[in-house]
Amino acid sequence: MLSIVIFLFSVPSLVFCQPFSNFQKYDLPSAAVGPFSIAFDSSGRGPFTGISDGRVLRYDPVQNSFFDFAFTSPNRSKAVCDGTDNNDNPTRGAICGRPLGVSFHFRTNQLYVTDAYKGLLVVPPNGRLAENVATGAEGVPFKFPFLLDVDQVTGDVYFTEFSSQFQLSQVQHAIDVRDSTGRLLKYNPNTGETTVLLRGLSGAAGIALSYDRTYLLIAEMTANRVKKLWLSGPNAFTTVDLITVRGRPSNIKKNSLADFWVAVNTWIPGPTVGSMIRVPSAIRISGTGGAILQTVDLSSYYTNTSISEFQPFGLGGYIGALRAASLGRVN
Ligand SMILES: *[C@@H]1O[C@H](CO)[C@@H](O)[C@H](O)[C@H]1NC(C)=O
Ligand SMILES: *[C@@H]1O[C@H](CO)[C@@H](O)[C@H](O)[C@H]1NC(C)=O
Repeated sequence: MLSIVIFLFSVPSLVFCQPFSNFQKYDLPSAAVGPFSIAFDSSGRGPFTGISDGRVLRYDPVQNSFFDFAFTSPNRSKAVCDGTDNNDNPTRGAICGRPLGVSFHFRTNQLYVTDAYKGLLVVPPNGRLAENVATGAEGVPFKFPFLLDVDQVTGDVYFTEFSSQFQLSQVQHAIDVRDSTGRLLKYNPNTGETTVLLRGLSGAAGIALSYDRTYLLIAEMTANRVKKLWLSGPNAFTTVDLITVRGRPSNIKKNSLADFWVAVNTWIPGPTVGSMIRVPSAIRISGTGGAILQTVDLSSYYTNTSISEFQPFGLGGYIGALRAASLGRVN
């Protein structure tokens, strides 16, 4: 009896170990990097992901290969852009594009994309050139559109602008100076209007709409926290700080249990004096009270590398990273 009790009480500590035994890498084509965010369409095809050279790719598991699906810039050419890294090159980013967030509206099978240089776009169901649907709000052009989530019922698109002062190539500087000009926006596809829901955010990053559509979670990367914005009920349009995390939160994705997975990167001292090592992890949190339900250390797969997203899938998940040359998967 005693051993059963001890076993039961030791279970919570087990969840802090690596619960996935299998890690796979899906190498991107050419020299491109940065599968930043991951989406599946209404019939489960994918993963789809936007990469550093401006393409949105679709992975085909049967052919075990990535294919070009869409692009965000009308004057992008494959000869100039394919295989380039536009994370740090705004000049080439303006020509080639840099899709970051990807999220489907299942009813129309349209893929919405936030591009760091172009704004919010929508890709027609068969792919190719995306249409730009928002380039600014309140008369101010976007500086750094970041991530998004789609309300599957209304079709509204919630998206973040990391900063309205600094662009993607300046993201580290924006964090260092503790920029807090990030915004949360909403695009209404029926009216074509984009409105500002929140301003003054410190590195507005991941965004996820709750399963019951009553609230949004928003990660503030620079402030190490996740905010909750009520959309309905007695507290509608007020925010609370849901949780402060150790490290920098990036994308947020909901799972089928109505919890949320947050990609979080921390730094620990390295082997030599003054050196630092990045430790990427994925934490599963409750949207109700902000409790951490599970922590998965991914540093054995991503050595000294930040991750951007943990997209739950089956019993595991897909992993995005701004600088990685492959899409990861654990299960
Ligand atoms: C084409 O690329 C240039 C950058 O050289 C950019 O300034 C311009 O806006 C692009 N044109 C369109 C239609 O996006
Ligand atoms: C981890 O990466 C950073 C740069 O990305 C580097 O400055 C640092 O030295 C690396 N740490 C180790 C222990 O290699």
